[in-house]
Amino acid sequence: MKRHEALVQLSHEHHHGLVWAKRFYDLPDSAPLADQQELLEEFLPIWRDEINPHFRNEEEILLPLFDVDADPDVECIRQMLQQHIHIRRDVLLLEFEPNIEVIHRLGNALKEHIRLEERDVFPLVEEKASQETLDAIQSQIEK
Ligand SMILES: [Fe+2]
Ligand SMILES: [Fe+2]
Repeated sequence: MKRHEALVQLSHEHHHGLVWAKRFYDLPDSAPLADQQELLEEFLPIWRDEINPHFRNEEEILLPLFDVDADPDVECIRQMLQQHIHIRRDVLLLEFEPNIEVIHRLGNALKEHIRLEERDVFPLVEEKASQETLDAIQSQIEK
């Protein structure tokens, strides 16, 4: 589906997120601790530099500007924010120590989360936000 240009950057970042999700849920149950550690050492800087800033762009810019034009108290946005909390929880747990169950849970959570935003949240923003708001979203989102 063609995204409004205000959401193109976030959507593009979702493709990158899906690659990480797959690497997580595809890691075998039997993966040795060293493999889990290696994956996390690669992931955590990406989390800090790309994925967490992406979440913050959604929380601090996208949703507050959406709230200028429409009521954000809808199921898909409640769910989106709960998912941010669960994903952040799992990243914090994995920063503390590797755990294959948490790695799998995080992979699935990321995939579900991106699906929710692409299927429900972004189409809602495109439908309800005015052109002025979409322009503001586009200019405010941090690259
Ligand atoms: Fe998100
Ligand atoms: Fe997102």
